Amino acid sequence: MIRRSQPQGTLEGFEKVFVPEKIIVTGGAGFIGSNFVRWVIENAPNAHVVVLDKLTYAGNINNLAGLPEDRLTFVKGDICDKELVESLFSEADAVVHFAAESHNDNSIANPDPFLRTNVEGTYTLLEAARKYGVRFHHVSTDEVYGDLALDDPSKFTEDSPYRPSSPYSSTKAASDMLVRAWHRTYGVPITISNCSNNYGAYQHIEKFIPRQITNILTGKHPKLYGDGLNVRDWIHVEDHSAAVWLILTQGAIGETYLIGADGEKNNLDVLRSILRNMGKDPDDFDWVKDRPGHDRRYAIDATKLKTELGWRPIHTDFDAGLKSTIDWYIENKPWWLGEKEATEAKYDATGH
Ligand code: NAD
Ligand code: TYD
Repeated sequence: MIRRSQPQGTLEGFEKVFVPEKIIVTGGAGFIGSNFVRWVIENAPNAHVVVLDKLTYAGNINNLAGLPEDRLTFVKGDICDKELVESLFSEADAVVHFAAESHNDNSIANPDPFLRTNVEGTYTLLEAARKYGVRFHHVSTDEVYGDLALDDPSKFTEDSPYRPSSPYSSTKAASDMLVRAWHRTYGVPITISNCSNNYGAYQHIEKFIPRQITNILTGKHPKLYGDGLNVRDWIHVEDHSAAVWLILTQGAIGETYLIGADGEKNNLDVLRSILRNMGKDPDDFDWVKDRPGHDRRYAIDATKLKTELGWRPIHTDFDAGLKSTIDWYIENKPWWLGEKEATEAKYDATGH
């Protein structure tokens, strides 16, 4: 049974396990959002999903191809469109909010859409959640915590201070703050997750791993920023989806959970693994200029998620996950080939 919260009331209406029947997934045509939609359709047989997605350059309706029509409704629209958002929220139990401008390099070139979608869009959704008492799960990033030094043994925890470095991460940090304020002031029933770098199928080719794979497949050199020693804490997108569902259904209202799978690797090592897996010389790439403000290292301590909710990642073999990701891009050339030229033209303009 679904218990709805009161718009400004207490949280007493919630059972320990919240089982939403009608879930809005914003950004559900993007990389992680579409993976999450697939995960919900496969694992939550009573859930109906409504995807709200603007289909920006990063959204692709084909990411949802083949999913059963009686379980999924697609709405093309902007999360900043108050009227549309309210009409959808008036009939939903929960929202899982993935929609965002998500790429650091784009945010450096033009922060404008980041402010609008990540901040104003989140605000618009929160107001609708307040009005209609909709459970709100906010999907965020570990980049809100800034970076760690390479020789620092510590990892981010839920108590780490917010120190975002880029226009992207600062707008995500702002959105996290709005979500917490709407909980504390108005009682909106929220949870937040901050996850590390995802990889897997359907990731836009502007991002590090698919960019290098598709460069190799189109005869271009992979491109490594700076000294290549920056560390990212890689997690397979399916492990992220499972964690988000667990937090939505069993997380404590008002709480934040970090999601990470102990996958720290530097960019040089990841790039060499891609080259080796694709039968290339591991040194056959270009060193290119560094990203301004480039975060040095991210690392997640996911103890809270593991001990309080019992989450465990399944895809713990990074090399196996990387191989299947490479295979996916080889087998799905039509999915990305049309975007390649425009994506590389953007990078050419900034010298990356
Ligand atoms: P993505 O860029 O692949 O997808 C974003 C989706 O949002 C697209 O489908 C796009 O069309 C849609 N969108 C953008 N602006 C919109 C608007 N105004 N209204 C409606 N839809 C809009 O992003 P992703 O990598 O799948 O990331 C999804 C979420 O996860 C983001 O909130 C991001 O901050 C967060 N996150 C990403 C990572 C990662 O490694 N990619 C890690 C942690 C957290
Ligand atoms: P990216 O996928 O953009 O994710 P994020 O900035 O959110 O971590 O980049 C991952 C890392 O790879 C980051 O340290 C920047 C680096 N990078 C490259 O070295 N070359 C590239 O072509 C890209 C896109 C990123």
